[in-house]
Amino acid sequence: METYTVMLPAAGSGRRMGAGFNKLFLELAGKPILMHTLDVFERDHNCEGMILSVKPEERPTIEQMLQAYGITKVKAMVPGGAERQQSVAACIQAHQDGGVVLVHDAARPFIHQDVIRKLVEVASEYGAAIAGVPVKDTIKVTVDGVVEQTVDRSKLWSIQTPQAFRYELLKEASEKAEADGFLGTDESMIVEQLGVPVRIVESTYDNVKMTTSEDLLFGEVLLKRRQ
Ligand code: C5P
Repeated sequence: METYTVMLPAAGSGRRMGAGFNKLFLELAGKPILMHTLDVFERDHNCEGMILSVKPEERPTIEQMLQAYGITKVKAMVPGGAERQQSVAACIQAHQDGGVVLVHDAARPFIHQDVIRKLVEVASEYGAAIAGVPVKDTIKVTVDGVVEQTVDRSKLWSIQTPQAFRYELLKEASEKAEADGFLGTDESMIVEQLGVPVRIVESTYDNVKMTTSEDLLFGEVLLKRRQ
């Protein structure tokens, strides 16, 4: 099994959570969301190291948390950018070692180890692999509040992180996106721009991103179920 480095953008403001501070500092079962997420990778023997992008003013708080929660694998903390893609680009520039890298939202603490393993395996063989789940709802395209089209659901996937890539491929995609002024909503989009096929690895519906206050309630339930 190939080892990997994980890049974790953690420099968001979490406006949709409405906490008034970085939502990653909110607690689930008494532990900050960020520490739950880092703990997944701390415990994974195949994870060689973590690179975090953070807001410079939050760095001291995060350093204290790493100590308090016994997180030892953080190799670098780089300043995040105004957009998530820029925060990830800063992590990409900080990594030098090649191999397979994962990009994972620090706000998704419930990712399963077997999904991580599969992503690394597929990215190692083919270059790019992303986690996703089949769409459960019926999806319609609307114009001015009127349905224009119902999309064939059998082809639709809801995409999550982690997204795994051979490092050289992700670096090339990131540099091209920056040169082109292209802003994607995930890393797969910038790799797709290179014309490289991106494979889907089926993940689980509980790999939710802590985005709004309802997600915290769901998160508490998921933690109880796992304990
Ligand atoms: O806002 P959202 O939850 O979609 O962000 C996903 C992840 O990206 C979060 O972990 C957040 O901290 C991070 N992020 C970042 N830099 C930004 C915006 C978001 O590192 N400018």
